[in-house]
Amino acid sequence: MSILSLKEISKRYKDETRRSERVLSHFNLEVERGEIVWLRGSSGSGKSTVLNIAGLLSTPDGGSRKIDGVDVTTPSQSLAAQTRRTKIGMVFQHSNLLPELTAVENIMVASVSVLTESEVIDRLAEFDLTSIARHKAKQLSGGQQQRVAFCRALVNEPLLLLADEPNSGLDDNNTNNVREALVAAAARGCAVLLASHSDAFEQIVSRTLDMERGRIG
Ligand SMILES: Nc1ncnc2c1ncn2[C@@H]1O[C@H](COP(=O)(O)OP(=O)(O)O)[C@@H](O)[C@H]1O
Ligand SMILES: [Mg+2]
Repeated sequence: MSILSLKEISKRYKDETRRSERVLSHFNLEVERGEIVWLRGSSGSGKSTVLNIAGLLSTPDGGSRKIDGVDVTTPSQSLAAQTRRTKIGMVFQHSNLLPELTAVENIMVASVSVLTESEVIDRLAEFDLTSIARHKAKQLSGGQQQRVAFCRALVNEPLLLLADEPNSGLDDNNTNNVREALVAAAARGCAVLLASHSDAFEQIVSRTLDMERGRIG
């Protein structure tokens, strides 16, 4: 059974100034445990739209959507919240950490279960972040922030990890850390969906899907 299943998804954004434009049409995608699926396409091809729909941040206009076998096409607010919290981890282009909180506190805030500080530090150690565990997020480098964001996204052991341009603005060394984090997540059984216009992840992906004008080309 697929962890993520999108069938015949359509999406258009209502735009007051322009004609309403269809971003996705007849879009189909299945992602299974342990896979890293790369959604490849130029800017504007609809990659983020797919990830936002997969992450229940946006509702499709048509089609159906399942996560872990549960229909979440038009979920109630509470089912959506529970699904996001327990089954989905997301990493964006920018880390979106709470700047005034420490790395440890950012992880604690996101955790479904109550973790002790030493449990959180153990998790941060997996991302080589022990030395900055008590630093405020705003004091960390971009690469460190993105590693904390990965640690946060994985803290509840999600079934589905969504990563939208996760190496944007990072140097080669930090991009390598991002690659390792994606591989580790897949090895733990996550279904990983990666959106990227760069070829930095070519070596680690299981499948590549080319986006062309809102469809898999
Ligand atoms: N919130 C929005 N409102 C209106 N148009 C949007 C919105 N988000 C994305 N779009 C448009 O949808 C298309 C696909 O965008 P996006 O999914 O962000 O592509 P990508 O991530 O591949 O760059 C683009 O033409 C973009 O301008
Ligand atoms: Mg995008």
